Amino acid sequence: KGGYEHFMMKEIYEQPRAVRDTVNAVLKNGRIDLSDAGLDEKTIRSIGRIYIVACGSAYHAGVAMQYVMEELARIPVRVELASEFRYRNPILDPEGLVVIVSQSGETADSLAALREAKQRGIRTLGIVNVVGSSIAREADNVFYTLAGPEISVATTKAYSTQLIASYALAVQFGKVREQITEEKYQELIAELKTLPDKIAKIIEDDKERIQWFAAKQANARDAFFIGRGIDYAISMEGSLKMKEISYIHSEAYAAGELKHGTISLIEDGILVVSVLTQKELYEKMISNMVEVKCRGAYLVAVTMAGNYKVEDTVNFALYIPETEECFTPSLA
Ligand code: F6R
Repeated sequence: KGGYEHFMMKEIYEQPRAVRDTVNAVLKNGRIDLSDAGLDEKTIRSIGRIYIVACGSAYHAGVAMQYVMEELARIPVRVELASEFRYRNPILDPEGLVVIVSQSGETADSLAALREAKQRGIRTLGIVNVVGSSIAREADNVFYTLAGPEISVATTKAYSTQLIASYALAVQFGKVREQITEEKYQELIAELKTLPDKIAKIIEDDKERIQWFAAKQANARDAFFIGRGIDYAISMEGSLKMKEISYIHSEAYAAGELKHGTISLIEDGILVVSVLTQKELYEKMISNMVEVKCRGAYLVAVTMAGNYKVEDTVNFALYIPETEECFTPSLA
């Protein structure tokens, strides 16, 4: 365990290294090169639609990828749970690309979904961490995340590298499909390279405050993670990790959806973690947060450094360094 109390802690600390390795592996001469993943420029141009299929945290990485890919490459993306996809007789565009995201490369539903897509003659790409795993062997092409062995059952560093794979694909698709300029492309690549250090800084700088906060909230009964847009994707992962590891009941909600019923569960002392990293959605988020605060929630914000005014609304705030809006999941 490398001196750590348990593997999950070790793997949390390995995130900067895992992310750096995965970023470096797709960069060649200052540009993203997806030829190892079978995605040369001609192929990228020919793809009409993307289907992302996965389970659990890998699915959450897929939800983030959907936002980033549609934003940067303006290509329609559908993201689906493998356990649903495999049994619902999906209608697939023959020009489509099915992306299976899996750390282990062995998850039964994801593997079955891959086989289903292949049987229908659709091009498949595995985003996989384990070399030689079933999904890696059977997919037409593979994008390897370089997280290294993940021993903890709850994924941390592999999920972080799946996000990097998502960004690399989205940025390259955006460039090749002429949705982003050369200047923007270079900016995005430069920013990608800064993520490992930013992740390392968060883990180091915020450690004590987070430990203090966790100790204070350890008896929480229920938690909600809320966000809009890509912040909803990161909320899903935050919530899963919370319940899986702490046994505290937790749900992720699209912040704007809460008022359609579930807000009735928000009462005194319920922990609500709000993720707000997107400028355009900031005010909308604040108004959702005020709604839950009025019902007595203990409110936490995860937001960009500089948004200090959030402290007028919340009980506790965590700040993340500035980055491209599409890359905030890696820091939040
Ligand atoms: C949650 C977690 C699981 C996995 C899921 C898929 O912490 O680790 O939800 O993400 O079981 O596993 P892979 O990625 O191996 O297909």
